[in-house]
Amino acid sequence: MREQLLALKEEVSKALGSVTTEQEVDQLRTRYLGRKGSLTQILRRMKDVPEEERPVLGNLANQIKQEVAGLLDGRRAQIRDEERQRKVREERIDISLPGRRPLRGAYHPLTLVTREIIAVFQGMGFEVVEGPEIDLDFYNFEALNFPRDHPARDMQDTFYVAEDVVLRTHTSNVQIHTMKARTPPFRVLAPGTVYRCDSDTTHSPMFHQVEGFLVDRDVSFAQLKGVLAVFCQALFSPDVPLRFRPSFFPFTEPSAEVDIGCFLCRGAGCRVCSQTGWLEILGAGMIHPEVFKSVGYHRDAYTGFAFGVGIERIAMLKYGIDDIRLFFENDQRFLRQF
Ligand code: DAH
Repeated sequence: MREQLLALKEEVSKALGSVTTEQEVDQLRTRYLGRKGSLTQILRRMKDVPEEERPVLGNLANQIKQEVAGLLDGRRAQIRDEERQRKVREERIDISLPGRRPLRGAYHPLTLVTREIIAVFQGMGFEVVEGPEIDLDFYNFEALNFPRDHPARDMQDTFYVAEDVVLRTHTSNVQIHTMKARTPPFRVLAPGTVYRCDSDTTHSPMFHQVEGFLVDRDVSFAQLKGVLAVFCQALFSPDVPLRFRPSFFPFTEPSAEVDIGCFLCRGAGCRVCSQTGWLEILGAGMIHPEVFKSVGYHRDAYTGFAFGVGIERIAMLKYGIDDIRLFFENDQRFLRQF
């Protein structure tokens, strides 16, 4: 029995060498010291031992039991300690690593230009109004004095939704909606999306315009010039030269196209202004009496002026962008710059 007790301690000691978890240590404890374990099995045979040897063997058994328990506890503590050290090692947070910057959004350049234009006209008492992008031929053409089969309709390549329904080709349709719904005087600014079947580096099938119009009694072309001068000076520079060229639009008479002096070459002529020294930026004119007639005003009761600005064109000039498609590709590298 003595040898068996000593062998038991040896066995436990050996087994502990290949044990790696606290759970395995506990399994060994059950196997050797548990109620049905090896030590209990050995002590069962105490009754076969001569009586005088029993106290000595009993002492030895207790001693071995304590030593084995000590071995088990020691190994268990050791494993726990190693585990803790491993965790500390692996879960350490390296506070010297640079943080991840949150992505910051930016306003789209067209939003920036639109807001800038709105702010200038609000400063002159204009009210912002929106109109439908899908509209009847009447509002987009007929009431604006584009008769059916009139060649002026070919100036704009129209997307037809149905026989009588179009995607608006310009924001001028808001003139008709507003005039039909209200009685003058009013001054309105109508920014919005417009559509034309056209696509190259300076034309997009979907683009944006701002329409402005003022209707009252005794409105003059001089007032139109004054308002547009304030606009151009605010958007480009206080000393920007302006030029009004006679032009034609069915819904204005007289009509003009307005140029600003090229701010890249200061009038000397460059690639952007096609060597002319001037950049065309908007169309304008005095509202045609036929337009007043078509919205039910007496043709001599009111006078007014109107103008239309292409927002992409302004943004391209202001920011030196040479391809209109960049506005709509949503390339972060492009958009981040604004
Ligand atoms: N609607 C015209 C276009 O899209 C722009 C325009 C020209 C608007 C003259 C106006 C205007 O209000 O008076 O080409």
